[in-house]
Amino acid sequence: MKLSRVGVVGAGQLGRMLALAGYPLGIRCMFLDRSAGAPAAQVAPLLTGELEDAAQLAALASANQVVTFDWENIAGSALAPLEKLTLVRPPRAALEASQDRMSEKALFSKLRIPVAAHAAVEDKEQLQRAIAKLGLPGVLKTRRLGYDGKGQFVLRGPQDIGQAWMAIGGRGLIYEKFQQFSREVSLVGARSATGEIVFYPLSANTHGGGILHYGIAPFVNRKLERTARLYLKRVMQALAYVGVLTIEFFVVKGRLIANEMAPRVHNSGHWTIEGCVTSQFENHLRAICNLPLGSTRALGHTAMVNFLGKMPDPQRLLAIDGLAFHDYGKEPRPGRKLGHCTILKSRAIERNSALANALKLIEWT
Ligand SMILES: Nc1ncnc2c1ncn2[C@@H]1O[C@H](COP(=O)(O)OP(=O)(O)O)[C@@H](O)[C@H]1O
Ligand SMILES: [Mg+2]
Repeated sequence: MKLSRVGVVGAGQLGRMLALAGYPLGIRCMFLDRSAGAPAAQVAPLLTGELEDAAQLAALASANQVVTFDWENIAGSALAPLEKLTLVRPPRAALEASQDRMSEKALFSKLRIPVAAHAAVEDKEQLQRAIAKLGLPGVLKTRRLGYDGKGQFVLRGPQDIGQAWMAIGGRGLIYEKFQQFSREVSLVGARSATGEIVFYPLSANTHGGGILHYGIAPFVNRKLERTARLYLKRVMQALAYVGVLTIEFFVVKGRLIANEMAPRVHNSGHWTIEGCVTSQFENHLRAICNLPLGSTRALGHTAMVNFLGKMPDPQRLLAIDGLAFHDYGKEPRPGRKLGHCTILKSRAIERNSALANALKLIEWT
């Protein structure tokens, strides 16, 4: 049976783009967020409250046929009661695995998906030991709640240990060997409740300070794409996954090293709105609402650029042929994701030159 009422925990830009994708399908989203001015609240109804508030989560679950997420860090203990009230998709196990960088890497390793050498770090002594074992440079990260490069510290030499500890010490941490990657790529896919799986073309992503700046797609590399699909499929099947799932990879010496996964629609898949027959947002809704998945075929060559900290001038950007502009309706703050643009061209060379022009007009602050 097609489901048409979706409760979404978190009302950020991802939720907003989900809600917008739902309208033509006759799918209505309702959100839970602590802020009445959140991006998705501008386009769909909202329950106001903390994301882990038991009563508000129960209200969201009771009013909708399926609950999904714009933010994956809801505690398993807060989610478990919802399973008695409605469908929770993607499954709780997927959220729990992705919430902790140690359990995420354990899942990848169990499924024979390569990861960076790493060690759990609880105190400064363990950090010294991890460094002695894994070497420098490395990245010290909080195990939980990190995003957009927050809660991370790159250690170039022993002199950085004190500063790294000052910045993020005292919480559960993970130390990872620094990956000398040639590229970062990500794969977005969707799995339906009946086990149907679709994959988008691979995208190549450029980050600055740990946050996504821009990406191009399709990134054509058949060998990498085949392997990435195999890995994503393994994770989806192991978790009996329903919805859109993304894995971010490093390409090191031509091999894929899984960095992290996101049990939701993902920034590196925004290009699919204009760039594919069916967007990641529509396919997430199709998957969780028991509809057949849509074609993930690319319509051309795209580039997606994030607007961080400051919105660019739409007049000048929209003068670029084939550019689509997305404003999330957020208050500017340094480093904050405020919007993005996607350029769609029929040839890669045209995409590259339009991207170069767009980058001249966009400033990341
Ligand atoms: N082990 C590593 N080696 C090299 N670069 C890394 C490593 N871990 C993270 N980074 C860089 O930092 C970015 C953000 O790290 P990530 O683990 O994806 O955390 P977040 O949850 O903040 O996205 C990555 O996309 C990559 O550019
Ligand atoms: Mg990441």
